[in-house]
Amino acid sequence: MSERIEDIAVAMVAPGKGLLAADESTATIGKRFETIGLESTETSRRDYREMLFRANEGMSHISGVILYEETLFQKAADGTPLVDLIRAAGAVPGIKVDTGAKPMAHFADETVTEGLDGLAGRLAKYYEAGARFAKWRGVLAVSDVLPSAGAVRANAHALARYAALCQEAGIVPMIEPEVLMDGTPGDHSIERSQDVTEYVLRVTFEELAAQRINLEGMILKPSMVIDGKKARKASVDEVAERTVRVLKNTVPASVPGITFLSGGQSTEEATAHLSAMNADYDLPWPLTFSYGRALQTEGLTAWGGKPENVAAGQRAFAHRAKMCGLAAKGGWKIELEKAA
Ligand code: 13P
Repeated sequence: MSERIEDIAVAMVAPGKGLLAADESTATIGKRFETIGLESTETSRRDYREMLFRANEGMSHISGVILYEETLFQKAADGTPLVDLIRAAGAVPGIKVDTGAKPMAHFADETVTEGLDGLAGRLAKYYEAGARFAKWRGVLAVSDVLPSAGAVRANAHALARYAALCQEAGIVPMIEPEVLMDGTPGDHSIERSQDVTEYVLRVTFEELAAQRINLEGMILKPSMVIDGKKARKASVDEVAERTVRVLKNTVPASVPGITFLSGGQSTEEATAHLSAMNADYDLPWPLTFSYGRALQTEGLTAWGGKPENVAAGQRAFAHRAKMCGLAAKGGWKIELEKAA
């Protein structure tokens, strides 16, 4: 594998492939496991992720995997480092490096993402362990008055500082400014989502420029332009059209690729939206997925925490990864879901 960050970024958006976001914090994976009645322990978290990384068919659609720190240093049941399983599947190992969105002083109901202190030292350790890209998520809540200019600027600045540290460490930064679709109140219109997303991306790229970020050595991980989860009525075509318009207005063509988060969309919604954008628009960058929930939910449910269901879990994950891979080329169709 090449070690130039520009080449790693291009490999992360290889045609028909996308990223598996398996970087749930210990608290978040605990909530996911609750849905299948499984206790979250170091071993159950390892078993679940090992099941995914050993799913050869599913992994053939995956260009990179985002890990939580615990997983980066974990070994499979037979002693193989999980990072080696990911590499053997032809995917790039990545690492979530922020330490979470924390209440922002003076800004009620808003957060700023933390994790810059000591980050240079942590990045060196992660590089040593095999990570070649990183993720940092800024979170912007939407209402009639939110997000505030102060919260947008603070989160964008933190993303840019993080990106600079990553690039100096030889690690590709994924820049994730998430405009929430399922936050509180969660009933905003798609027009409001469009305005907010465009503003957030503009400020983000201003801050990236101010911190001298090499745009060819980064990946953008945005949310789609979509109405709030409690008011969902926009068509697939409208989500695709508005999302593409915002990206064209804000993202320089030198960015190697854009990988969406799913943010609480159903698996099929997230697949359909991505496919529509790739099918209907001529764009300067590859658009693909970096889904957590939308890529994992079916596999997690089919596995159910039972060793005898590993193959069933892998089959369900492979189906979704294949559908998302088709969507990354604009070739997904609803009939393919029914045929499965
Ligand atoms: P979702 O696709 O579940 O939103 O997760 C992606 C991610 O990495 C969020 O930070």
